[in-house]
Amino acid sequence: QTGVFTYDPGFTSTASCESKITYIDGDEGVLLHRGYPINQLAEQSSFMEVCYLLLNGELPKQDELASFTRTISRHTMLHEQLTTFLRGFRRDAHPMAIMCGIVGALSAFYHDSTDITDVQQRMIASHRLIAKMPTIAAMAYKYSVGQPILYPDNSLSYSANFLRMTFGVPAEPYEVDPAVERAMDRIFILHADHEQNASTSTVRLAGSSGANPFACIAAGIACLWGPAHGGANEAALNMLREIGTPDRIPHYIERAKDKNDPFRLMGFGHRVYKNYDPRATVMQKTVREVFSALKVTDPVFEVALQLEEMALNDPYFIEKKLFPNVDFYSGVILSAIGFPTSMFTALFALARTVGWIAQWNEMITDPDQKIGRPRQLYTGPTQRDYVPIDRR
Ligand code: SDX
Repeated sequence: QTGVFTYDPGFTSTASCESKITYIDGDEGVLLHRGYPINQLAEQSSFMEVCYLLLNGELPKQDELASFTRTISRHTMLHEQLTTFLRGFRRDAHPMAIMCGIVGALSAFYHDSTDITDVQQRMIASHRLIAKMPTIAAMAYKYSVGQPILYPDNSLSYSANFLRMTFGVPAEPYEVDPAVERAMDRIFILHADHEQNASTSTVRLAGSSGANPFACIAAGIACLWGPAHGGANEAALNMLREIGTPDRIPHYIERAKDKNDPFRLMGFGHRVYKNYDPRATVMQKTVREVFSALKVTDPVFEVALQLEEMALNDPYFIEKKLFPNVDFYSGVILSAIGFPTSMFTALFALARTVGWIAQWNEMITDPDQKIGRPRQLYTGPTQRDYVPIDRR
């Protein structure tokens, strides 16, 4: 027999929180970071500048940006023992499994930045995480393809450094294509933060217990991995490739509408946006720029464009207010740049680390902060007595 215990109807969910970092208007398709619209930041700013903005609340002056960039570059290398840790993984380990493991392990190496009560240690941990994520992501990729790991080259920009560590080889020089570097930087900006999404809420909840920042970010990476969240970019490109040609789109749209079919259009829909995700708009524009710069074409882009067109004109998607989200086009660009689909979510985690860290710092420095404790509505059995096994 189950019973529902009455609960205080006045209790407010502990799931909501105040923040000054990111504002989303889901109905209007608005996304602001510290008041600045995402399309302006994506088209006029740099990822390092956006990192400074998210962490400090204001756009940096020239000297502030130079000093911040230099500080980040000083933390790009990893303790050599972590490469030993890496070699314990199978070569076919998913990059997100490696990222979860290595980021969590950072707390075993950088003891001088795990005391969350010390403002200096919190800042060093924040800079270390932002700086080391590209090195870790590139290392995971190199390990999976059996190529030697490249050390960071701090004479390069953040995005160029990452591209070189990923695609460069010791046998020959690697020239970063400026258009690809710009696209990479823009993709990082578009993924930097997004209010209280599932993985950010995970980081806040883990941080509310006083866990060290490396462990909290590892928790966020684990949550982001899911196909309903950050794993959607990998799933979206796999879906587009499975569709293959525009004539097969109607069949998949019908499947997405069929309640008895678990299939959903990956890269479509959102918990908050009931309008166009402003990041998807910039992402679609970036596809065109990367394709023309690299002189590549990929039929999957045409499938994506026609799928979007058909879905946006379908009564079901109109009624449910389903639009493309940030993950719909990102895979098309990342694939054109040369990343395998298995790296897509790792790139999302790389970019989102600054958002997680900014949100974590905001929570940790809130004097009224208490440990997170979501409330439940109990719907299980009312109290009853134990029955010995021979009488059941
Ligand atoms: C990210 O939260 C964030 O901010 C996340 C993120 C970030 O930057 O951190 O923006 C990143 O995670 C983007 C979302 C990536 N995920 C996907 O693209 C996976 C595909 N999308 C869906 O799984 C879905 O849209 C969710 C999970 C994103 C949202 O699911 P909800 O909460 O069920 O969406 P909803 O309440 O708006 O759904 C309304 C209806 C439902 O049908 P009914 O129950 O009303 O009958 O629309 C249906 C849903 O079943 N629906 C879809 C659909 N998404 C929702 N039907 C078909 N295809 C879809 N993609």
